[in-house]
Amino acid sequence: MKNNIQIRKAKTKDIRAITKLHKKIVSEVNSAFYSPEVIKEWLNKISEGNVNHQFQNSVWIVAEIDSKIIGFGQYSVKDRQIYQINVDPKYLNQNIGKRLYEYIENGFKNNEIGKINLNSTLNAVGFYQKLGFEIVQEINFKLSRQSLKMIKMEKSLRKDCQVVLGRDIRKSLS
Ligand SMILES: CC(C)(COP(=O)(O)OP(=O)(O)OC[C@H]1O[C@@H](n2cnc3c(N)ncnc32)[C@H](O)[C@@H]1OP(=O)(O)O)[C@@H](O)C(=O)NCCC(=O)NCCS
Repeated sequence: MKNNIQIRKAKTKDIRAITKLHKKIVSEVNSAFYSPEVIKEWLNKISEGNVNHQFQNSVWIVAEIDSKIIGFGQYSVKDRQIYQINVDPKYLNQNIGKRLYEYIENGFKNNEIGKINLNSTLNAVGFYQKLGFEIVQEINFKLSRQSLKMIKMEKSLRKDCQVVLGRDIRKSLS
């Protein structure tokens, strides 16, 4: 694992690099799991304008090595949702995705959020399972003509509370 990686909040000056990297990742990594038609529509949705718009209502973070952006994440504490974690194909399996996730999870914990939700791409389900997420159900995210098959997942950050609560509910139902 590389040690000189910095995880920080993204700034508007990073939008161009994030957009370029996202297109590269969809073309090179996600394309192995989705049809060319889906990939084409997906790529059409990724633009500096869209990222800029999403900067208004979600938090973006980047992983940087020697001032080069090699990964990014997007989430909302208010909506208890991780929207995406993406790593440059050149840097996969070097714990960068995990580092981005840990930064995000700390943000949720600092705000005393009990549960995180996300919709995972088909290729990233194993990654999120490693981080403690469980599969909820398959969903179809509408693009234009095509739809993107994704897996809804969730992770409880307060496991013991949930077990006690579950037991109480079962008791009151019996
Ligand atoms: C999913 C993704 C972010 C993982 O990033 P990464 O930096 O390669 O992952 P890490 O090296 O941090 O892996 C952390 C752990 O998850 C495991 N892991 C990583 N990717 C995995 C995968 N696709 N399936 C199963 N396990 C995976 C690693 O082996 C590692 O396990 P360990 O802790 O036992 O060693 C990266 O593959 C990616 O950007 N994919 C394309 C974009 C995408 O679809 N993102 C999800 C959007 S919701």
